[in-house]
Amino acid sequence: MPDILIIPGSLRQMSSSRATARALSQRLEAQANWSIADIGTLPHYNADVTDNPAVAAFVDQVGAADGIVFVSPEYNYSVPGVLKNAIDWASRPAFASVFRDKPCFVVSVSGGALGGVRAQAHLKYILNGMLARVFAAKEVVVPNANAKVADGLLNDPDVLAFAEAEIMPFIDSLA
Ligand SMILES: Cc1cc2nc3c(=O)[nH]c(=O)nc-3n(C[C@H](O)[C@H](O)[C@H](O)COP(=O)(O)O)c2cc1C
Repeated sequence: MPDILIIPGSLRQMSSSRATARALSQRLEAQANWSIADIGTLPHYNADVTDNPAVAAFVDQVGAADGIVFVSPEYNYSVPGVLKNAIDWASRPAFASVFRDKPCFVVSVSGGALGGVRAQAHLKYILNGMLARVFAAKEVVVPNANAKVADGLLNDPDVLAFAEAEIMPFIDSLA
């Protein structure tokens, strides 16, 4: 089975992104080995910092994964700063980082009706800039996500079934 790293774009305990990540990985637990990155321990990006253990561990995690699934909310029409910070750490050296040729799938989440679709577009653009391989699929968005979280899991069978149908070809492509 492929090793897939989920990178969530929200740090908060009751996060709907994290609830979506947990629900997706539980639903697809027989198809891949899932782990969830902890980007909250990363310092602010600073090129002078070359020996931070949290940064090294995160870069290693990205490098070792067969594929990455981002599950991120939209903040002010774009990617949350905390997620961009994590991506920036793993993006060096430019065009030769652990993201180069890395298969990536993007899921966006929102408390509102649009499901974070603008952040999703921005994130794909960012990944393209790092020469990552953004998987082509129908856009998986989770609108009105906060109202659908129960016991730490996204509880929206229709959205989860749609997400599974789009993510399965991604997982198969990693074999
Ligand atoms: C700083 C900030 C900016 C936000 N901007 C947007 C936005 O542009 N579009 C949107 O749909 N939701 C926006 N929201 C609402 C988020 O979609 C909502 O808070 C969501 O639950 C955050 O994801 P989480 O549950 O994983 O923490 C914003 C929330 C915050 C805290």
